[in-house]
Amino acid sequence: MKLIFLGAPGAGKGTQAEIVCDHLGIPTISTGNCLREAVKNGTELGIRAKSYMDDGHLVPDEIVISIIRDRLQQEDCRKGFILDGFPRTVPQAEALDSMGIMIDKVIDLEVADTEIEKRLSGRRVCEGCGASYHIENKPSQKPGVCDKCGASLVVRKDDQPETIRERLSVYHKQTEPLKQYYTKSGKLIAVEGRGSVDEIAARTLKALEE
Ligand code: AP5
Repeated sequence: MKLIFLGAPGAGKGTQAEIVCDHLGIPTISTGNCLREAVKNGTELGIRAKSYMDDGHLVPDEIVISIIRDRLQQEDCRKGFILDGFPRTVPQAEALDSMGIMIDKVIDLEVADTEIEKRLSGRRVCEGCGASYHIENKPSQKPGVCDKCGASLVVRKDDQPETIRERLSVYHKQTEPLKQYYTKSGKLIAVEGRGSVDEIAARTLKALEE
């Protein structure tokens, strides 16, 4: 299955993608994770992307399109994949189409902005392996320490209140038009993103079976 997970920043795309990719045995490709890795390694691409990400803006289309083009050619994508956080603009969706990639379904996780602000302000991420937690909804066993690798948990730089608001505004202006784009092609499935992680995973898996 070739899937796209669409939704506002903090809607739970990464959380749900982790569950669904285990279930289906396909990889998740997160442009956010690819870009953070490039920033951490100080690559030329990372240096170009950093200021956009820190300000809560989208990285230019040509950068993310080239990341996705390279990644989708790798062997592990042959059976399918989940795109988490790509496409995020209509030109990115058009670029995916022009690569000849036939997407099966687009899952749109729908969550109100007020809930998003709560989720992102409580998120903590591992600075070692990137695993994601929430101080109330998904706490680590030992506060401030990653269950998976033991490294420290930190607040993501773009999870500061002002940057969260900017990311939401960017989402409504630049990414939400994709709902229309994928409704036209009959691929969009709206999934209610309120409730526990397990409830939303059950809804998502059901939507994929239909
Ligand atoms: P990216 O990393 O993709 O950030 P995002 O879309 O803003 O999404 P997040 O990772 O913040 O949220 P999520 O929806 O995955 O939610 P999560 O599961 O973590 O991108 C970062 C930046 O990179 C962008 O701002 C941009 O600059 C750049 N970029 C990336 N892709 C790009 C592209 N295609 N084009 C241009 N630029 C691009 O959940 C959030 C929190 O909520 C967690 O703490 C989690 O534990 C908690 N949670 C999850 N589900 C629930 C639930 N059901 N109930 C309660 N809490 C929950």
